[in-house]
Amino acid sequence: MSTSIPFRPAGGRDDATPMALRNRRRVSAWLFAVCFMLIGMIALGGYTRLTGSGLSIMDWRPVTGIVPPLTHAEWERQFALYQTIPQYKILHDGFGLSGFQKIFWAEWTHRFWGRMIGLVLLVPLVWFAATGALTRGLIARLVLFFVLGGLQGAIGWFMVASGFNPDSTAVAPVRLVLHLCCAFALYIAILWTALSVRTPTAPFIPATPPVVRTRRLVWTATVLIGITIIAGGFTAGTHAGFTYNTFPLMDGRLVPAGYARLTPFWLNWFQNIPAVQFDHRLLATATALTIGACVFTGLRTPQIGKPAQDALMLLGWAVLIQYALGVTTLLLVVPAWAGTVHQTWAAVLLTVAIVTLHRLRGVGRP
Ligand code: HEM
Repeated sequence: MSTSIPFRPAGGRDDATPMALRNRRRVSAWLFAVCFMLIGMIALGGYTRLTGSGLSIMDWRPVTGIVPPLTHAEWERQFALYQTIPQYKILHDGFGLSGFQKIFWAEWTHRFWGRMIGLVLLVPLVWFAATGALTRGLIARLVLFFVLGGLQGAIGWFMVASGFNPDSTAVAPVRLVLHLCCAFALYIAILWTALSVRTPTAPFIPATPPVVRTRRLVWTATVLIGITIIAGGFTAGTHAGFTYNTFPLMDGRLVPAGYARLTPFWLNWFQNIPAVQFDHRLLATATALTIGACVFTGLRTPQIGKPAQDALMLLGWAVLIQYALGVTTLLLVVPAWAGTVHQTWAAVLLTVAIVTLHRLRGVGRP
């Protein structure tokens, strides 16, 4: 026998149709699986970028592109096309067809995984909707996610296309960051929805001053994680991690020389390598300290409940690991494995922050 509990979507509006407990479990398990696949996609994206593979497929065919070259002639055609762009001449000159195939498969797998995520979202969505397992509001929201997922593919192509310009050997940093941000934004939306389907009603937490302070700190930490991720995108996009490979000093100084070299000043945050790297370090440090404050305050505030306290502890560990991974990536001069793990762990860190916020959403709400 299944219990019917009104489903309250993440937006906070009561949906008229209650959702059965059994359906909530199945639907949230499916959405968590999609989230898991999205983290995989973020990892594959990092690996593709760090191995210089992202420009190897020079066309965008959303459906037929799933078929890789099947004949030797087709491989030669794709390779010849790749040999026309500057990245080949500067990065991979003379690596032969087998070298090309290696980078091709990395990019193909990234795109293939994206298509699989689309399928894993769409097919159960149609099934669950047809069998009445979903509320109307949830169907609309999930269809929107599907459309945004397709848009993310288009943004990916918009990013890749910038790498084919005659004077570039990599994609434009701004487009890289746009692609990264949209990936994380969609991930957060699907994760929040999955959490809200699984636990539709938040346990009431009295809004005492320490509780409110803890929640405010967790919000601040989450926003800081987001900004640090964006700064990480510019660090990766401008290849800023390949220089100043010491920590904590940069060329013997805390603030690197030439921080404000460009005018107008704000341009330094996006284009000036020492400034870009320094900002990422600074933001990461501010994030870690804020999370430290969250843990300190939260653990001394039992009213927030054990689930929220457990999530806070995890958040503390997750940021320590992420910080250490960042320093490792820098000191080892960005090997592909370290850069990929650092990028992927950023998604894990954000996940824990979102889960913590979700567990605190009952503050002051009877
Ligand atoms: C809260 C802590 C941190 C977060 C959330 C974070 C996040 C990120 C993300 C998401 C990227 C990759 C962006 C992309 O590929 O587009 C990145 C890149 C990078 N991060 Fe961090 N980071 C943190 C701390 C650090 C620290 C402490 C350092 C070193 C002192 C560091 C050094 C780097 C470097 C060198 C890159 C560029 C790697 C590459 O070229 O792929 N990070 N970071």
